[in-house]
Amino acid sequence: MRIGILTSGGDCPGLNAVIRSIVFRGTRLYDHEFVGFRNGWRGVVEGDFIELPLVRVRGIGKHGGTILGTSRTNPFEGPQGGPENIQAMMDANGIDALIAIGGEGTLAAAQRLHRAGIRMVGVPKTIDNDLDSTDYTFGFDTAVQIATDALDRLRTTGESHGRCMVAEVMGRHVGWIALHSGMAAGAHAILIPEKRVSYEQVATWVLDAQGRGRAPLVVVAEGFVPEGEESAHSHRGLDAFGRPRLGGIGEILAHELEERTGIETRSTVLGHIQRGGTPTGYDRVLATRFGMAAADMVTRKQWGQMASLRGTDITAVDFDNALGSLKTVPEDRYREAEMLFG
Ligand code: F6P
Repeated sequence: MRIGILTSGGDCPGLNAVIRSIVFRGTRLYDHEFVGFRNGWRGVVEGDFIELPLVRVRGIGKHGGTILGTSRTNPFEGPQGGPENIQAMMDANGIDALIAIGGEGTLAAAQRLHRAGIRMVGVPKTIDNDLDSTDYTFGFDTAVQIATDALDRLRTTGESHGRCMVAEVMGRHVGWIALHSGMAAGAHAILIPEKRVSYEQVATWVLDAQGRGRAPLVVVAEGFVPEGEESAHSHRGLDAFGRPRLGGIGEILAHELEERTGIETRSTVLGHIQRGGTPTGYDRVLATRFGMAAADMVTRKQWGQMASLRGTDITAVDFDNALGSLKTVPEDRYREAEMLFG
């Protein structure tokens, strides 16, 4: 078979490890040929791809980003978009099937294309770790490690100045990065999209921590909605899928805390630093195993399915069972962390 690979949506560390392992296993074991579409669905819609022989993917597993590029293009939009056009492009180039590596937006588009008859297999990726059908996605471990390191650094400068430090991390719908990095760094408050908390309550935790002689450290996910507010803070318009671009809650929170506590407060947005650079060993291994599973899945013609981690096993799940609900932080996981606040 001749198979097209694409990476779409926000990038994350480990994408290159997936590409490498699909091509290695698919070429060595099954004699498939591979092409890589440039810039996610945009390349699919425009028929813009490169050949991916083994030699092209050697040694890339440790590199961040994606050698194919990515975008937030919607494959159903534009004059060349939609399943008929995409199938025609595949036929014209002798491409039998696609492997889409992406998060909820990308995989939902893959599901629609599969329903329209395109041979499709998925590989889940997101630093947010919000896909319900897999225990972990690669990229998450790297993001948590980067955030934890940043929090440790904020802590020492906060201690030197006796300041309260607020760190804003990514997490559009779910607070996994905030929860794990905050717990690892011993944050005095962790604020996540799943849990409404009042500024008053956060100020109490901050004052408690200061009262014990600590420099308060607060971690807030970009999607956090403070009690009394309608939705997450956004002032940068919408992305290609019509979702608000988030970011900025950390600064608002810092101002509210300084007002309420009288403690000098600084905020830092970690932003895309969490998505950049080399993947951790854990993410490289998970990404490699997902890639191998994807090569097996196309060979077995498991169309409309995606790779998934269950415990320590890699399995395949139908898009229809995998998508549609997010893996949010459960109440008991938040309660567990909350015990350590203040
Ligand atoms: O979906 C992953 C994510 O990193 C979110 O946490 C964040 O809201 C979004 O991507 C940022 O997207 P962009 O790279 O388009 O700014």
